[in-house]
Order: sequence, then C-alpha cells, then structure tokens
Amino acid sequence: MALLEILEYPDERLRRVAKPVKQFDEYIKQIVADMLETMYHAQGAGLAATQVDIDKRIVVIDISETRDQPEVLINPSYKAVGDKRSELPEGCLSVPGFYDSLGRYDHIILTATDADGNLYTKECTGIMAVCVQHEIDHLDGKLLIDEISMLKKQRFEKKLTKIRKMQERAR
Ligand code: NI
Repeated sequence: MALLEILEYPDERLRRVAKPVKQFDEYIKQIVADMLETMYHAQGAGLAATQVDIDKRIVVIDISETRDQPEVLINPSYKAVGDKRSELPEGCLSVPGFYDSLGRYDHIILTATDADGNLYTKECTGIMAVCVQHEIDHLDGKLLIDEISMLKKQRFEKKLTKIRKMQERAR
C-alpha cells in the first residue's frame, strides 16, 4: 500500500476525462487499495482516481462515521430519481478550504463495478448521492468551483493565495 499525492486546483491534470477500466486485475486492486489508504489518511469522504493522477474511472467513498464502510465504484454512472435537489454543502480534497452546495440530485440510482469486476446497482440518497455525483464529476474533469458565481470564485482565489503564502512561509 502507498499514499498517493492529491492534486490541487488549479492543476490542469484535474481537467482530464478519465478512461474506463476494461480489465479487472491485480493492478486495479492495488490502485483501489492505495486510493482507500490515501482517502482515509486525508480524512476525505471520497476520492476519484483523477485526483491522484491516475487516468482511470475509479472512485472510492466512505461516508460512515466509523470510517470502515469503503465503497468502490469503477466505471460509475447514475440516473436521477425525481427532481428533488440537495442543499448539503460539499468540500473537496483538491479544493481545500472551499465549501458550497451545488444543488445536486438528492436521490439517484448508481450503477458501477466493484474491484472484482462485479456489476452492481445501488440506491443512494442524501450525502451518498451528493458524494457519488461529486466524484463522477472528477472523472469528467469537473470541479465543484466550476459552477459557482464569479464573485464567489474570486473570493476563493484570494483565500487560496493567502493559504499558499502561509504554506510557503512554513516551509
Ligand atoms: Ni472532490
């Protein structure tokens, strides 16, 4: 197992559209194990392969408080059930310090494959539904700050510049 480096905005590699996994082998299992370790270490609820510079449609999620309910989503897709929107704020390991609600679907049906290559569907609501949509966006090169207003974005950029300066000084 190994900790992977998490890319941060505005790294251009976060903009790539990840490729589908076609072969389910030991290599994929290793990536999943490393991604889980990295997600738990960073105390995130989810992590997409794009965030750790791996060009594959792989996502790991754990929204449990006990941090022992890992979910593996390979080649994931979803369909919305109804039109109810979530107001849950979300954050992102690649956009540290930023939280906002994007009004995502509150209820979805997820279709994905596990690390052994078994296809499954799962009904997701609330935090899990938001998390799945957030991580699939990563695989498509999208970030949660893409949808926000220019004003909010400028405010965030300022905050980010400050944080980076503080990090520089601490080095
Ligand atoms: Ni994220």
